[in-house]
Amino acid sequence: MRSLLVIVLAAGEGTRMRSAKPKVLHAVANRPMVAHVLDAALKAGASRLAVVIGPDHEAVAAQVRHVAPEAGTFVQAERRGTAHAVLAAREALAQGLEGQPFDDVVVMYGDTPLVRPETIEALRAPLADGAAVSVLGFRPADPFGYGRLVTQDGELLAIREEKEASEAERAITLCNAGLMAFDGRVVLDLLDRVSDANAKKEFYLTDAVEIARALGRSAGVVEVAVEEVAGVNSRAQLAEAESILQKRLRARALEGGATLVAPETVFFSADTVIGRDVVIEPNVVFGPGVTIEDGATIRAFSHVEGAHVGAGAIVGPFARLRPGAALGQGVHVGNFVEIKAADLAPGVKVNHLSYVGDSSVGANTNIGAGTITCNYDGFRKHRTTIGANAFIGTNTLLVAPVSVGDGAYIGTGSVITDNVPEDLLAIGRARQVNKLGWAVRLRERLSAGLAPKT
Ligand code: UD1
Ligand code: MG
Repeated sequence: MRSLLVIVLAAGEGTRMRSAKPKVLHAVANRPMVAHVLDAALKAGASRLAVVIGPDHEAVAAQVRHVAPEAGTFVQAERRGTAHAVLAAREALAQGLEGQPFDDVVVMYGDTPLVRPETIEALRAPLADGAAVSVLGFRPADPFGYGRLVTQDGELLAIREEKEASEAERAITLCNAGLMAFDGRVVLDLLDRVSDANAKKEFYLTDAVEIARALGRSAGVVEVAVEEVAGVNSRAQLAEAESILQKRLRARALEGGATLVAPETVFFSADTVIGRDVVIEPNVVFGPGVTIEDGATIRAFSHVEGAHVGAGAIVGPFARLRPGAALGQGVHVGNFVEIKAADLAPGVKVNHLSYVGDSSVGANTNIGAGTITCNYDGFRKHRTTIGANAFIGTNTLLVAPVSVGDGAYIGTGSVITDNVPEDLLAIGRARQVNKLGWAVRLRERLSAGLAPKT
């Protein structure tokens, strides 16, 4: 297998985002753009990762450490062009792998999050056939601003940047997407020959093509669909990238054997895991960290985040599962129910208008409508522990920390502040009083113009 170094350029300011945070940290499908790029690089088999960041981008370095702890980060102190940015990672390039230069070096952009691992592999193919450089080409609707790929008989001669292109070159529709792959044995030599004698006074990575050819080496082009190389410079482009990725994630769920009644209304996170024979009704949103096991149903208008939904469970309509919600097999969570940091064992039912947080609930327990776990005292969160086969009456308040034993019943409308042992009935509410004739006497006084008796 050929060794691979992937260098991710992420030093961009992203001023058009009008944001306090670096551009590459903006998320698509709830994952920062730079994390998508690193993920694709790893899936494509990168042996080493290097990320080039801007001088004040500690937040980017932190994100990189989080998603790819093995990656090196390199600071480009001044933005002097794409070749200059790659050379910021000179140390990684020069070091190679176990004393050998990398076979392949791929350069990716941190703001181009939709590139798939297969495409990185395709881009490397010309290198295996002897090319020194390989370039990812695409045909944008409007080529303005992109480097044009000057080819002859299918061979890449040069990349011409907009500002240097002749009129004839500007008419070329095949453009440089930005991803480039290099023969690791010559990449440093090529890049050290790049100069900044051009309209932008920048060191263009794209000059490497002509330099390689002048040294008698060849360059290849691999063409991909526009959608895959959509770069993000503005919030509008971020929304476009989101829409493209959502289409992919929906297709992935469908291919995996899930039914999506109205796919265009369902929103996934990049890491959502959906099993087979899962049914997802319209207007469902999945935040990060969700796994839905086989045969579960997520009914309309539910919001699910950081949750595990067991096989055959039914969630919603209008349910909210928050981080730490773990639903066992066959659990039912119904309308207007919120579950947070709670384990619901198999067969538990919470069907209506309830909040269950910081709790564990044993198998087959039924939680009546309007039950609330009062988990917060203004300072700390407290746990509620409910056993198996218990029955929590409608409109119960469970004031945590509190526990309810196996098989216990709680009377409707109770405020439970003391632990409930197993298999008994606990009632914690005011006793009802019936006052004979009281309504008749009230009506007599009011109709006589008198004040009601207190
Ligand atoms: C670049 C390509 C162009 C291609 C286009 C695709 C060059 C010279 N031109 O042009 O052929 O069609 O991308 O989008 O490579 N960056 C740094 N440090 C720098 C300069 C850039 O990290 O000093 C990063 C940017 O953050 C960005 C990427 O490199 O992620 C591309 O830089 P940008 O300035 O957008 O290049 P373009 O002019 O768009
Ligand atoms: Mg650009």
